[in-house]
Amino acid sequence: MSNDRLKRRRFGRSSLEVPPIAVGCAPLGDMRETFLYSVPEDQAVATVLAALASPIDYIDTAAWYGDGESERRVGLALKELGGLPDGAILQTKIGRPPDSFDFSGEVVKRRFERSMELLGVDRFDTVFLHGPEATTFEDAMSPGGPVEVLRGYYEQGVFDHFGVASDISDVDLQYLKTGLFDAVISSNRYTLLNINSDELFSYAAQHGIAVLNAAPYGSGILARGAAAYPRYFYRPAPQAMIDRALAIEAICVRYDVPLPAVALQFSLRDLRITVTIAGMSRPERIQETIDYATLEIPDELWDEIEALGPPDRSDPTGT
Ligand SMILES: NC(=O)c1ccc[n+]([C@@H]2O[C@H](COP(=O)([O-])OP(=O)(O)OC[C@H]3O[C@@H](n4cnc5c(N)ncnc54)[C@H](OP(=O)(O)O)[C@@H]3O)[C@@H](O)[C@H]2O)c1
Repeated sequence: MSNDRLKRRRFGRSSLEVPPIAVGCAPLGDMRETFLYSVPEDQAVATVLAALASPIDYIDTAAWYGDGESERRVGLALKELGGLPDGAILQTKIGRPPDSFDFSGEVVKRRFERSMELLGVDRFDTVFLHGPEATTFEDAMSPGGPVEVLRGYYEQGVFDHFGVASDISDVDLQYLKTGLFDAVISSNRYTLLNINSDELFSYAAQHGIAVLNAAPYGSGILARGAAAYPRYFYRPAPQAMIDRALAIEAICVRYDVPLPAVALQFSLRDLRITVTIAGMSRPERIQETIDYATLEIPDELWDEIEALGPPDRSDPTGT
């Protein structure tokens, strides 16, 4: 039963089968202001190499992470291996640059070409339109705009699936309703502490769209614990959320089950979710993650969490 949790899953309507966990490479972008720590290059490369030698050989990166630094480091690992190993999965995301609000088709084209260069690849399994909440739907969908530009690469076969990854569930939904997208990423919005993307995930699953649930640890609070990391979605967590996190931690302690195992399996056990993207920046995290995914968790623990009441459904940024 536990090994079933690592069984590959069908990616939406396509025939591609992917590991149920992807290794989130945002921390590898060395984004101190986001994660509050630095990640040295050799540690980042070792993490990617460990992932690609494991059953969770699925890399999620983005042009945004360290403005190319995460992709550059993933690229160093790929170079060491002579390219992406057979069967491994690679995806990136393209949006505006961190230092500008220019979300034009031209900028997106330049950034996508840079991503291919930094990663040293000429094709991807999936590419996502990243952060479209930074522009209007009309501009993004206009002729020559970012959606058309990325669709152009898709139609040329540069990637096999086209996705959208917004930080606002309703924005993701608006794009999915165009019928142009095969996959959606939502982050920090389907965890033990917040289920703002519940409806989005139901919509996507019902329409054969692959669902990628990113940040099962809410950016760290459900991995490190609320005392060590009283933050959620890269900012200070509200007190009610900290209280709930502490209550869940207390349950985990009573059952002697690590909190991150419960946080990860909360996502893995939801059959609407194709892939859970967990962020990590140390090679030893790969085996830890596999252990968390395959650990047997008693039903009584889940019952006790359920008895706390459902997680908050509002947007975690308060918007
Ligand atoms: N809009 C989008 O498309 C979007 C938005 C957000 C995130 N994402 C993707 O989803 C991924 C996951 O999100 P996230 O990285 O922000 O948050 P996360 O997965 O909720 O948490 C990552 C944090 O948890 C820590 N962690 C992981 N495993 C651990 C373990 N076994 N023990 C202790 N700590 C552990 C990591 O620490 P270490 O660094 O020390 O390993 C890191 O600080 C990102 O990396 C990114 O690839 C996509």
